[in-house]
Amino acid sequence: MKRMIKASIVTHEKIGENCWSMWLKAPGITEGVIPGQFAHIKLKQGEKLLPRPLSICEIDRNQKALRIVYAVVGNGTKDLSLMKMGEEVTLLSPLGNGYDIKATAQKSIIVGGGMGIPPLLELSKRIPGEKEIYLGYASTPFLQKDFEEHSEKLRIATDDGSYGYTGTVLDAMNYYHADGDVVYSCGPRPMLQKISEWAKQKGIPAQISLEERMACGIGACLVCTCKIKKEKEEDWQHQRVCSDGPVFNSKEVVW
Ligand code: FES
Repeated sequence: MKRMIKASIVTHEKIGENCWSMWLKAPGITEGVIPGQFAHIKLKQGEKLLPRPLSICEIDRNQKALRIVYAVVGNGTKDLSLMKMGEEVTLLSPLGNGYDIKATAQKSIIVGGGMGIPPLLELSKRIPGEKEIYLGYASTPFLQKDFEEHSEKLRIATDDGSYGYTGTVLDAMNYYHADGDVVYSCGPRPMLQKISEWAKQKGIPAQISLEERMACGIGACLVCTCKIKKEKEEDWQHQRVCSDGPVFNSKEVVW
């Protein structure tokens, strides 16, 4: 159940070019988080900017803390990047529907691109069985060591060839002959569309987390709608990424 709390910053560090990692003390929230869910963060009481929707990267249940990994993309995240240990933010979480972990899958394929990579870390920790992880970056990778702990089959692709395979994450999947019973993915929409087509060709299910612009984050403003149809049906309907998703069955998404 979602709750709004004051969460204090435990650690805050830059972990890549334009990429920050923040651990927040979040008692009462961490217990119920499902990988793929997100948090709304407001920096100061009375600020005019809308809360920032940020995916949850990792949970530490013992410390009752959650981690967000974010990029600076505007004034709000710029201000967030300047905050120090011990300062507090207002946190509303967990929001949205996360991944449905298929306990029956023998082997999972996890695919992330850009700032869609962070929420896949907690997922990688919790998925049982064998897993192959494919991460695509524009350039220098981040969170690489964190993911290495959860699979021996971690493949990195960079657009500029600065690390790992040169090309897209899908190119890397084809090059390394990605193989599994289910795909979990998060990243930019064009990448998700290609991953969905790839999974369809292989005849395996894919759960994808859509990145949409959000405002309220709780299903009230309709800023984040996308087109969803039920499998085998022609008609689609608008659904809200923030509250009906962000994770959807790839076969249901109208691109
Ligand atoms: Fe308001 Fe989704 S952000 S309905």
